[in-house]
Amino acid sequence: MNPLTPLVLKPLPYAPSALEPVLSSDQVRTHHEQFGTGYIKRANALLARGGPQGVDALPEDERLRFQFEWNGAVLHELFWASLTPGGAEPTPEFTQRVLGGPAGAAEIRSDLITAGVGIMGSGWAAISVRPREGVFVHAVSSHNYPWGSGCRPLILIDCWEHSYVFDYLAQRRVYLDRLTALIDWRVAEQRLREAGR
Ligand SMILES: [Fe+2]
Repeated sequence: MNPLTPLVLKPLPYAPSALEPVLSSDQVRTHHEQFGTGYIKRANALLARGGPQGVDALPEDERLRFQFEWNGAVLHELFWASLTPGGAEPTPEFTQRVLGGPAGAAEIRSDLITAGVGIMGSGWAAISVRPREGVFVHAVSSHNYPWGSGCRPLILIDCWEHSYVFDYLAQRRVYLDRLTALIDWRVAEQRLREAGR
């Protein structure tokens, strides 16, 4: 990994209040602005320290730190865009071909919740596509998304406590039950197309 371009915080694709009552405006704004800005600032500072050679010029501990911050920024951007106010249903074609019909659509959502609940510590619940495996559900520990294996996210759900603690305290399952109703399945379909599937 040797990115040379500084990151910028993308605005939310909807108003901070638009995910209410599932997520409060305060929860969304704090999460997006404070955490998003933090990852980006720290990633960019490390990038600048690397100079013209980028992060490859940094010592190993700083390269690992950069990876954490850069992933933090990128995964959050993908997370916010995985949601839409009220949720958006998958197309019949996507439901049938990728999810195996309406029962499969309910099952993948349930698997996503189970993956998120099962994370020890902090991480992400993901629906991804990978060559040979096709579409699958998995948990991501910390920010360690397996980009290197050709894995590409279709849907990412933040399961770090900071993403729900204001609204749900420690009730991660309740947060996931409610939040997964806001998934924008059209985005999953678009990302699958971009992954060439
Ligand atoms: Fe987060």
